[in-house]
Amino acid sequence: MLGPMSSRRIGRYTLGARLYDVLSGERPVYRVGRSAAIGRLGLRPGDRVLDLGCGTGLNFAPVLAAIGPTGRLTGLDASGSMLARARARTTAAGWDQVRLVEGDATDLDTLVGEATYDAVVATYTLSIMRDWQSVWVHALRRLRPGGRVAVVDLSLPGGLGLVWWPAARLACWTGGADPYRKPWRLAQDQLVDVITTTHRAGHVVAVTGTRPGPA
Ligand SMILES: C[S@@+](CC[C@H](N)C(=O)[O-])C[C@H]1O[C@@H](n2cnc3c(N)ncnc32)[C@H](O)[C@@H]1O
Repeated sequence: MLGPMSSRRIGRYTLGARLYDVLSGERPVYRVGRSAAIGRLGLRPGDRVLDLGCGTGLNFAPVLAAIGPTGRLTGLDASGSMLARARARTTAAGWDQVRLVEGDATDLDTLVGEATYDAVVATYTLSIMRDWQSVWVHALRRLRPGGRVAVVDLSLPGGLGLVWWPAARLACWTGGADPYRKPWRLAQDQLVDVITTTHRAGHVVAVTGTRPGPA
């Protein structure tokens, strides 16, 4: 069950789903973060990947290019409208390795059952989700030891990038993201082999790492 604050956040994606791919600034600003992080995951053919808060499926093409026809990609999102766009994208491309699940990520265990994954991807979504620390804990439990994680999210530019601060603040506000949350810190603290890159004057932070334990 979504609380009122969460409903408002999801609501903007219900209204904005149709325009998301065009107006979200994907090409000029945000693609670079997802490309960097997904590229660093070292995904292999046959891997099982969970895309948390998958939205319209902008991660699907690069993930599927790596995991191939024998891989499995589960995209989970609370917004039926965003998932409808993801479904259209999936159908058009003929990706039958994709499973789409509608629901709140805080109910992850109920939604995906006992499934385990080789990688979990969360791009531009943990800064929006309610109870995001709990989502993180549950997502990590669904990841096999040695599995890989990509967290990409938003921050506010500093230093020389300060000139972009108002635009970045507006982008966060429009998307309902909390730019002070810095959800990638959990990945930096709890994973090993961590690599962090910043992009677009520090507005985009991409962190990848490995869940400790025998692979
Ligand atoms: C800014 S979009 C990012 C979508 C996609 N990950 C991307 O990189 O383009 C944030 C997505 O998170 C989803 N979301 C927010 N809170 C959620 C929750 N509690 N459970 C599942 N999805 C959620 C929204 O519906 C929206 O599709």
